[in-house]
Amino acid sequence: MHVNGNSNTMFLGELQAKRIAQNVLNLPTLPTVIAKMMQIMDDPRTTVAQLSRLISSDQVLSAKLLKLANSAFYGIPRKVGTLELAIVMLGFESLKTLALGVSVIDRFSDNWNDAFDYSEFWEHAFGCAVASSMVARDICPDQKGEAFVAGLLHDIGKLILSQFAKRHFSAVIKNVSEYNSDFFSAEKAILGVAHADIAAWFADKWNFPRKLINALHYHHTPKYAQQDNQLAACVHLGDYLVRLVGIGFCPGKNMPLFDDTAFEEKTVQRDAIGQIDFQYYSEKLLVGVEESDSFLKIIARGINHAMD
Ligand SMILES: [Fe+2]
Ligand SMILES: [Fe+2]
Repeated sequence: MHVNGNSNTMFLGELQAKRIAQNVLNLPTLPTVIAKMMQIMDDPRTTVAQLSRLISSDQVLSAKLLKLANSAFYGIPRKVGTLELAIVMLGFESLKTLALGVSVIDRFSDNWNDAFDYSEFWEHAFGCAVASSMVARDICPDQKGEAFVAGLLHDIGKLILSQFAKRHFSAVIKNVSEYNSDFFSAEKAILGVAHADIAAWFADKWNFPRKLINALHYHHTPKYAQQDNQLAACVHLGDYLVRLVGIGFCPGKNMPLFDDTAFEEKTVQRDAIGQIDFQYYSEKLLVGVEESDSFLKIIARGINHAMD
């Protein structure tokens, strides 16, 4: 690959990785309401009323969650008028990841780096959210909401890099675009660390559920997610499909490597020769993106300026 691969670069990469790790650890912690939410949701004695009271203390968050619960995405036939009902209908796990997704977007809605195309980034992220939840319908239908949020946040490491390692991250993008090298190798050589690792550090610091951390960490290598690789597999295929149909930020012309070993025992649509049916999923994704438009707009309110 065409990166300056001498020993100085590797040394620089190690130093960079350390500096980036330090910055991620210094990032602001989870907003208080969300942190409390995570805490009480893990306690089996928590009641819906307690949770609803806590979420209500953040008016913006409650309004957003209520709107999301009423969107076509969840297909709840009647209008959900109260937060309590929304909590019951969505379930604790879905609600938890949804609240995390909304908070992360709020935290990362500012554009820090003029050289990075944020609208393209979010387009890719939203496309991947829709694609991952579409794949989850086949692989793990009970985790459709989690897959959506995992898809939405899968490349959050790139956003962090665009803030804390501006120059080096721009060098990665330039390298991938000019020499068609793969993103992972360029990151490793220039930064000493990959965006999926950074996403996992960040998610860990924000106390994301373990499944979600795994999905972000292994979205390029789902076979390493071991026993709990369903979400990582959904995002891996979702990310590939988004690249295939060309939605959003995709530097370089080469398609990323696809790891089909993670799908060996999973229920996915296959073609006549038993391969994953990318054609089927691509067509479905384009329809899905259009149908999810209103849901995406509610979540994206904080980053509308970046989506214009
Ligand atoms: Fe990625
Ligand atoms: Fe991606």
